Amino acid sequence: MAGKEIGVGLVSVGWMGKVHSRAYQALPVVYPELGVKPRLVIAADTAPDRIEYAKDVLGYEQGTLDYHEVLNHPDVDVVSICSPNFLHKEVAIAAAKAGKAFWLEKPAGRSLAETQDIAKAAKEAGVLSTIGFNYRNVPAIEHARKLIAEGRLGRIMNVRGVFFADYSSEPNGALSWRFKRDLAGSGVLGDLMGHLVDLAHYVLGPIEEVTALTHTVHTQRPIQQMGVGTHFDVVEGGEMGDVENEDYAAMLIRFGNDSNAAGAVGTLESSRVLVGPRARYALEIYGTEGSFVWDFERMNEFELTLTRRGEHLGYQRIMAGPGIGDFGSFQPGAGTSMGYDDLKIVEAKKFVSAILGKEQINSNINDAVASAAVLDAAEKSASDGAWHTLPKVESTTAARKAN
Ligand SMILES: NC(=O)c1ccc[n+]([C@@H]2O[C@H](COP(=O)([O-])OP(=O)(O)OC[C@H]3O[C@@H](n4cnc5c(N)ncnc54)[C@H](O)[C@@H]3O)[C@@H](O)[C@H]2O)c1
Repeated sequence: MAGKEIGVGLVSVGWMGKVHSRAYQALPVVYPELGVKPRLVIAADTAPDRIEYAKDVLGYEQGTLDYHEVLNHPDVDVVSICSPNFLHKEVAIAAAKAGKAFWLEKPAGRSLAETQDIAKAAKEAGVLSTIGFNYRNVPAIEHARKLIAEGRLGRIMNVRGVFFADYSSEPNGALSWRFKRDLAGSGVLGDLMGHLVDLAHYVLGPIEEVTALTHTVHTQRPIQQMGVGTHFDVVEGGEMGDVENEDYAAMLIRFGNDSNAAGAVGTLESSRVLVGPRARYALEIYGTEGSFVWDFERMNEFELTLTRRGEHLGYQRIMAGPGIGDFGSFQPGAGTSMGYDDLKIVEAKKFVSAILGKEQINSNINDAVASAAVLDAAEKSASDGAWHTLPKVESTTAARKAN
């Protein structure tokens, strides 16, 4: 039986454009109970070969150089915004005005102010939004959130998070749009730290205070044209240009009383230039009765201890399996691992479920505002050396009760 058709429009056919498209396509297979049949209607990019790719390989019916055609297409119900950061505000506000629900990649805006503008437009238009905070969908993370909400780790004392990547560890790594202020906004703060802040908000609750420092290691890189290659590329002998944002950021944080970690403190660190970690996106949470440790490089397992007495002292290594998060929708047994793209399928499922009228459990634009507020305070602190208190952000889905 054919499911309910959902018309998909895509803005930008880069890495994330492909991943979003595959996620929609997978929905009828992974989540047949949703009863939806996504239809890839139209994709936009300014690189003509990527438009051809969208049609010939991804299966979009139409392609265009002008993203407005995506937003104005009558058959488009949802829009995936996978463009470089400088276009996010413009496209998301235009999508809201066109009455289209949007799935916007992180960071939502290049700054807190841009993110707030998108939130205002989405609220005024009454359209549903979701943000690409995909690490929320890791089964181990969902499990940690539940354990902490149930008090199984006791009182949370401290948290240690790192989002360490090596995509620009090579000094001749391409100067993609990610390194330019006008195109990206901040550097590793918006690119990786924003994910980590959202994870902290999702698993533990709102961060209340922050102080930070930032550092740029490689100040020049070979220029890469927009729409060519990826940010992992190494360019030998090219014309050099200036890196305009930070390679590394570290924050000290305190959690507020309205979190599940009231009074807890922690450190969050991000780098895009390390040699060694490939995608070490790790969260360690230490409570008075137990601890949880997870690292994306071994996404399907986590270490847990729930006692400080008796024979089970220290960590046990647990493989995620059916019954933990959405694992069971992908594989029938533990040990047959999920991958990064699967997190996007879970994200697409939650987005489409909310569009169909179910409770929104995915991140929304207010979660992006909460994350951007921390990043904005971190940038200010890196320049003035002070602690900054964060405003309370209403209507986030991170504040939703764990179940
Ligand atoms: N959630 C995650 O884990 C994750 C991972 C990677 C990237 N991202 C985010 O996704 C977004 C895209 O990143 P990416 O790595 O896919 O980038 P990318 O460089 O691979 O692709 C960007 C695409 O945008 C196109 N583009 C440029 N100007 C355009 C315009 N005016 N109209 C339409 N298209 C235009 C380019 O031609 C290119 O095809 C960024 O905001 C990034 O931060 C999120």
